[in-house]
Amino acid sequence: MVDKREELNKYWCIRWASSDNGWVFPGVNPFLKLYFPNLTEGKGVCNKRVLVPLCGKTTDLLWLCEQDLSVTGIEFCEVPIINFFKEKGLSYECYEKSCHKVYKCISKDIVIYQGDFFSMNSDILGGVFDYCCDISSLSAMIPNEQKLYVDKLISLLSFDCRLILNCFEYDVTLRNDKPPYAIFRDRLENMFGYKFIIKELCCNTEDTLPEGYTSRIGFNTRHIYYMIKKIN
Ligand SMILES: C[S@@+](CC[C@H](N)C(=O)[O-])C[C@H]1O[C@@H](n2cnc3c(N)ncnc32)[C@H](O)[C@@H]1O
Repeated sequence: MVDKREELNKYWCIRWASSDNGWVFPGVNPFLKLYFPNLTEGKGVCNKRVLVPLCGKTTDLLWLCEQDLSVTGIEFCEVPIINFFKEKGLSYECYEKSCHKVYKCISKDIVIYQGDFFSMNSDILGGVFDYCCDISSLSAMIPNEQKLYVDKLISLLSFDCRLILNCFEYDVTLRNDKPPYAIFRDRLENMFGYKFIIKELCCNTEDTLPEGYTSRIGFNTRHIYYMIKKIN
């Protein structure tokens, strides 16, 4: 398993090193913007923390911070982390914590932990999170690790957490050997379990996605965004 993990992390770093990162959206994810009010409804943003797992160099980190959330990203590869700060013109300090490198923005409430998502825990990350934006992150996990990923994610979230999460649905007999992996609703519900309510926010075919939207993969894929809420 460890060897497999190392292999998978290497796979992503090779993709970053060779700029094979076609999923990177040039701006803020339009669905995150659209459904952000649903995410924070009734709970607000004051003193609230949002987790962006497997964040790459997404602009969503900056936008979430501009919505007054305290933002934490997790990313294994160094290249996108450095590029995020560089491309946004943000300076940062870098230090070590519990064997992980931490990149902390000087002027904004954004911190990115460099390391394997599976090696993180809420102590390392300074506590649990109120919100989570999982954009193409669960879908990046190989099928065998998706449930492990969800279990780890849940362990990092508060008792009343909320998530925005997207899934890709397509015919897996035509394609399912590389990310993003297809995840259908019944499997998603099984992985999160009965303590979570899952609501579909929108479902788009590739011809109804906004112009310039990345992560188009063909195969009549349906792009689905969900709101996931923990119930007590
Ligand atoms: C498909 S990309 C999604 C990036 C980001 N969520 C976005 O919307 O642009 C998956 C990212 O997860 C990172 N990654 C993959 N496995 C990881 C792991 N186990 N721990 C931390 N990061 C990981 C990859 O380096 C890559 O940047």
